[in-house]
Amino acid sequence: MLTPNMHYSELKDSYLFNTIYRKTSEYQAAHPEEKIYRMGVGDVSRPLCEAVIQALHEAVDDQATMTHFHGYMPESGAPELRKAISEYYRRFCVSVAADEVFVSSGACDDLGDILELFHRDNTVLVIEPAYPEYVDTNILCGRKVIHLDSGEENGFLPLPSEEIQADIIYICSPNNPTGAAYDREKLRKWVDYANRNGAVILYDAAYEIFIEDPAIPHSIFEIPGAETCAIEICSLSKTAGFTGTRLGYTVVPKALERMGMNLNTMWARNRETRTNGISYILQKGAAAVFTPAGLAQIQKNIQVYKENARVLMTAFDRSGIWYCGGRNSPYIWLKCPEGMGGWEFFDHLLNQIQVVGIPGEGFGACGKGYFRFSAFGDPEDTKEAANRLCKLLGR
Ligand code: MLT
Repeated sequence: MLTPNMHYSELKDSYLFNTIYRKTSEYQAAHPEEKIYRMGVGDVSRPLCEAVIQALHEAVDDQATMTHFHGYMPESGAPELRKAISEYYRRFCVSVAADEVFVSSGACDDLGDILELFHRDNTVLVIEPAYPEYVDTNILCGRKVIHLDSGEENGFLPLPSEEIQADIIYICSPNNPTGAAYDREKLRKWVDYANRNGAVILYDAAYEIFIEDPAIPHSIFEIPGAETCAIEICSLSKTAGFTGTRLGYTVVPKALERMGMNLNTMWARNRETRTNGISYILQKGAAAVFTPAGLAQIQKNIQVYKENARVLMTAFDRSGIWYCGGRNSPYIWLKCPEGMGGWEFFDHLLNQIQVVGIPGEGFGACGKGYFRFSAFGDPEDTKEAANRLCKLLGR
């Protein structure tokens, strides 16, 4: 008889973001007259920029002609797009070759798929609170997951110690959910740890576009030695509003080797087997992001989200609520008032002022008593949510 993957029974019943959607929909069904202010799941609210829309239209038209029609695309990405992304890295004074860039259907997909490079016996370190996919995908492979808690005492940016024994290390900076971001000096400690111990860092850079502080690196490859211990996973979801369009990229350096195996060659081989690539239409749209016009236009939306974050931070400052994030990040991580638990605060906000956020414990046990707000909402909704929060929090 077939044996299913029994590790599914070790997962929570529902993925965090689905629980948020379900609870919000249940509330809406019971209160159809109420408008709900969604500051929970980090989904963007602004449309794609003009340069991308124009390129997408052109690509659709190309597909209608004998001369410009495209069939299968190269599995690792269109050469022009790989080159454009490798050139984007030059802004951070980082040298990434086009064949070190792999175009993907999004960071979420590659964060799971990339695990096929590693043996199941490896131990995984997840710095918590963390994006829930890091834990779930490893549970499903039966891998041992160890948790490194972070908290206010270390600014939610813990550092490695030699007691930690891990082969795969997840680092998300600027962090989802806390918004905290490693500066170069701190990130270097993780790079040195990984090189000393033969570990590999999976660096989630999905929020790099929000970085303002020059001390914070946009890419782990700004740190010397990262090319021999890190894989960087990024996405256009937040950078260019591609949550519904889907396209990301992963950088696997050619210098990254373990036990005589080259991880860049392995990933190229994996892509040949596992995918027929991303559609021509999407890749042409994505390439427009990296043109001078595209790069200027995407900033307009980023500034809207940054203003949303400022509106929310002002509300928390006025209300005397402790928070971090919001500056180099679209997420604000706050302490629930009056010792409330995250789910208790979630229900309180939804029932009293119809504002939705995400309970901190959804991102790991040490997130208990904290709460995450996203700045990706509509600006008018964000202002209204901030007013309601100020009134409810009574200050
Ligand atoms: C979030 O809310 O954390 C994001 O939507 C995560 C994601 O991009 O999948």
